[in-house]
Amino acid sequence: MDKVTRKGKKEVERQEEPLRLTADLEGNYLLDERTSEMKWLGIFYSPAGGNVHRVAKMLKNKIGAGKVDMFCVNDVPAGKLLDYKNMILVCSSLGRSTWEREQRDQWAKFFPQMRKISLKDRFVALVGLGDHITYPKNFVDGMGYMAELVTGLGATLVGKTTTDGYVYEDSTAVVDDLFVGLPLDEDFEPEKTDARINKWLDMVMPEFEGV
Ligand SMILES: Cc1cc2nc3c(=O)[nH]c(=O)nc-3n(C[C@H](O)[C@H](O)[C@H](O)COP(=O)(O)O)c2cc1C
Repeated sequence: MDKVTRKGKKEVERQEEPLRLTADLEGNYLLDERTSEMKWLGIFYSPAGGNVHRVAKMLKNKIGAGKVDMFCVNDVPAGKLLDYKNMILVCSSLGRSTWEREQRDQWAKFFPQMRKISLKDRFVALVGLGDHITYPKNFVDGMGYMAELVTGLGATLVGKTTTDGYVYEDSTAVVDDLFVGLPLDEDFEPEKTDARINKWLDMVMPEFEGV
């Protein structure tokens, strides 16, 4: 009797929370799992110990530590993203070849796992660090790469910003005259970071969805 009841309960749970698998264009299966305890907002960043880490901590403090969780991507599997309805991904730019081949950036190691999950119904905001003096032709390209990846996984991008006030020659992070997220230059414009973050948070926070 007990056995039947437990089996029945399991079947009801399965019906309520089905694990949906869909295939992408290459025929890979994407895990699209809405966890029962979905949380509101997660900050995911890498690498640790430098500019990206400092900016991630600034974001967390400004949003309020109780409202947001923060993870370095070195420490969690990509499936952790699925715990959050909304996420802020913070990255730097180290050149496309670095990300795709040399794997010096931990995000590069995260990408193959990320490609196996679906971010449909998730809201993603991007913060990209770069250097507009040394790399004017590739300013915050990493953020452009990240935008391509997450939109390909079904995410809705929020927090796009105007290019006004930025000096650069070219960037893959600019689409339809807007940056796909918030660019920051801690190398040559650190004095602008605080105000840029404040303005961006005022805009992006209302764009996040409730759980
Ligand atoms: C090898 C290398 C390549 C870089 N390539 C770019 C680039 O293509 N575009 C850009 O805007 N910044 C580039 N940068 C600048 C970094 O993105 C920037 O310094 C960032 O703040 C570093 O963050 P971190 O201290 O967390 O590593 C590069 C830096 C290094 C060391």
